[in-house]
Amino acid sequence: MAGSIQSTVFKWKYRLFLKPFFFMQDPEKVHDRMIYFGSVLGRFGLSRWLLSATFNYKNEVLSQNLLGIDFINPIGLAAGFDKNAELGAVLPSVGFGFMEVGSVTGEKCLGNTKPRLWRLKKSKSLLVHYGLKNDGCEAISKKLENERMIIPRGVSVAMTNCKENIDPAKAVLDYAKAFKIMEPVASYLTVNISCPNALGGQPFVEPANLEKLLIELDKINTEKPVFIKLSPDMELVEIDALLDVLRSHRVQGIICTNLTKNRKNDKILDERVPSSGGLSGKPVQDLSDKLLAHIYKREGKRFVLIGCGGVFSAEDAYKKIRLGASLVQLITGMIYEGPQLIGDINRGLAEMLRRDGFKNIAEAVGIDNPSI
Ligand SMILES: Cc1cc2nc3c(=O)[nH]c(=O)nc-3n(C[C@H](O)[C@H](O)[C@H](O)COP(=O)(O)O)c2cc1C
Repeated sequence: MAGSIQSTVFKWKYRLFLKPFFFMQDPEKVHDRMIYFGSVLGRFGLSRWLLSATFNYKNEVLSQNLLGIDFINPIGLAAGFDKNAELGAVLPSVGFGFMEVGSVTGEKCLGNTKPRLWRLKKSKSLLVHYGLKNDGCEAISKKLENERMIIPRGVSVAMTNCKENIDPAKAVLDYAKAFKIMEPVASYLTVNISCPNALGGQPFVEPANLEKLLIELDKINTEKPVFIKLSPDMELVEIDALLDVLRSHRVQGIICTNLTKNRKNDKILDERVPSSGGLSGKPVQDLSDKLLAHIYKREGKRFVLIGCGGVFSAEDAYKKIRLGASLVQLITGMIYEGPQLIGDINRGLAEMLRRDGFKNIAEAVGIDNPSI
C-alpha cells in the first residue's frame, strides 16, 4: 500500500539509517531517549506542525463515536510505551487517533531489575520484563491535570508490582486507588489484569478474583467507559468464564490482547529467548486475532473491542477490524517499521474501506465474523 511521498521518504530513512542505529543500542535506553525526544518535539508548535505535515493522515471515513468518545481514526498507541504520560502533545501530530497511558499503579514502582527489554529481531518481537515501572497514580494524574487533551486519552491501571499485592484483597485496593485517582484525567480506563511480569502472576484472570475486583471498581462513581485487557494465553473456555463475569459489571470494552508468555509458538524464530518476560509483535498476532474473533462471535456488539498485537501494516489492522475490532492499538510495529507507519495504516485503511464499498469504518467492524 503506497504512502505519501514524505512518509515513503521517511520510511526508507528509518529502514536504512535510523533503525540500524537504534538497534545497535540498548533497547531500554533507546526507549527512554525516544520518550524524551518525543516530549521535546511536542512542546513546540513548529515541530508539531512539521511532524503533522510529514506523518499525519486524515479521512472522515475513519472517524467514529464510540461510547460517547470521538475518535478521528482507529489507530492508538498501546499501553506501555508512554508509561508516565509524556507524549500527549506529540502523538496526535504523528497521526494517532487515541493513546493509552500507563500502566499506572497505585504506588510508584521501579519495575524489575535490568536488563528487562530485549529485541527478538527475527521474530519481529520485543521481549518485555519491565514489571510495571511507572511514577505512580498521584504523580501522573497531577501531570495530566492541566494538560490539553487533543486525542482521547485512555489510562491503563494495574496493581503495584510489590510483595504486599500477592494478597489479592490488597491488590484490589491498590487497583481501586489508581482507578479513582486517574479517572478525572482519562477519556476511558483500562483495567490491566494480564501483565505477565508482576509478582504474584495474574490473580485476576480467576473469575472469583475478577468478580471481587469489579465489585470494588463499580463503587467508584464514573461516567467514563471501562475496558479490560486480556491475556492471549488463556483457553477459550477460561475466557468464556471471564466474559460471564464482565457482563454483570460496568465494563463496556475489551482489549485483545496483552503480551504472550507462552514460548511454544511457531512465530518465535530467534534461537535464544530469555525465560522471563512476555513477547509482543508477530508472536502475539494470531493469538490476539483468535481471541478477538471468539469474543466478537460470542458477544457481538455488547463490548467495544480493541485489537492489539502484531500490527505492522494496514492489512493487519484491517483484519482485526473485519474480525470485530472497532479500534486497533500497537507499539512493536512502530518500533520495527518507523513512526510513519501510523499515517500509512490510516491511509491504507481508508483505501481498503473505499475499495470494499464501506462509507465508514464502523460498517466493516466484524463483517468477516458475524456473531451467533
Ligand atoms: C515495551 C512494552 C511495554 C509494555 N507495557 C505494558 C503495560 O505497562 N501495560 C499493558 O497493558 N501492556 C503493556 N505492553 C503490552 C502492549 O500494550 C501490547 O498489548 C502488546 O505489546 C502487543 O501489541 P504490539 O504487538 O503492537 O506491541 C507493553 C508492551 C511493550 C512492547
